[in-house]
Amino acid sequence: MERIGVIGGGLMGSGIVEVAARAGLDVVGVEVSADAAKAAEARVEASLRRAESRGKIAADEVAAVLDRIRFVDDLEALADRRLVVEAATEDECTKLDLFRRVGQILTDDDAILASNTSSIPIVKLGAVSGRADHVMGVHFFNPAPVMKLVELIPSLTTASATMDRMRSFVTDELGKEPIEATDRAGFVVNSLLVPYLLSAIRMYEAGYASAADIDRGMVLGCGHPMGPLALSDLIGLDTVRAIGISMYEEFKEPLYSPPPILDRMVEAGLLGKKAGHGFYPYQEK
Ligand code: NAI
Repeated sequence: MERIGVIGGGLMGSGIVEVAARAGLDVVGVEVSADAAKAAEARVEASLRRAESRGKIAADEVAAVLDRIRFVDDLEALADRRLVVEAATEDECTKLDLFRRVGQILTDDDAILASNTSSIPIVKLGAVSGRADHVMGVHFFNPAPVMKLVELIPSLTTASATMDRMRSFVTDELGKEPIEATDRAGFVVNSLLVPYLLSAIRMYEAGYASAADIDRGMVLGCGHPMGPLALSDLIGLDTVRAIGISMYEEFKEPLYSPPPILDRMVEAGLLGKKAGHGFYPYQEK
């Protein structure tokens, strides 16, 4: 897996690029435009500089890591990759289009095409890729350079060899801790987390308590490192909403259905920390 590609350089894509480059791999990141590619590169550099200022990485190592990363706006740059992780916006049409195209671009028959999706069926992505046995889910957590967990999701059509290679890759090369989940919207963590986040948003919407008090309740009362509204802001409210919609479509369980206030906040561009405003205002995006 010495040459890897990452599609999307937002919150998760930039984090996955950083993790892979810090593990010594050659990484190509692909974004939608030259400007977006530049912004993604700046996101990775800012994260590395933060790590440097905390003494987690030396200055010369930052330079070496950045040297291993190239962000472009052309999917063709993925042709020679051994592994591509798709981390584009949580939108089924976008991902289906990417899997259709990248499945044809990869030249190595043994290359693995994985998705960081939180809720879109892996089997559908495999079906359009023309290499379903080499497609699976690899779900990182935010912030990817810090969080240890990776969920591994084989679909009905994933070959066991693909799963075995990915398990050794995330464990031995990236130093992460994998758990395995079946191809159901939400996998393990979001199946438990998303109804909780949506319940907190409904509670805020109904005026039970202020955002700050809902969060303080869970931090001080349950020992969580962060309250549910601050965590929703960190994940991105568009992403929380998209995951809720996919889970609702799959299970028809009202707990997964996004409340109207979440729809309105997303429509207003209040997407959380990445947009500078969500349930709380943020100075640094
Ligand atoms: P984001 O909104 O921060 O970034 C998405 C990026 O994808 C944007 O920079 C956008 O320009 C790019 N993009 C969209 N279409 C593209 C295309 N056709 N080609 C190349 N790039 C494209 O979203 P985020 O949070 O990084 O989410 C990405 C994926 O990771 C989603 O599938 C999401 O469900 C998943 N995820 C998100 C987590 C979170 O905490 N935000 C955690 C784990 C997984």
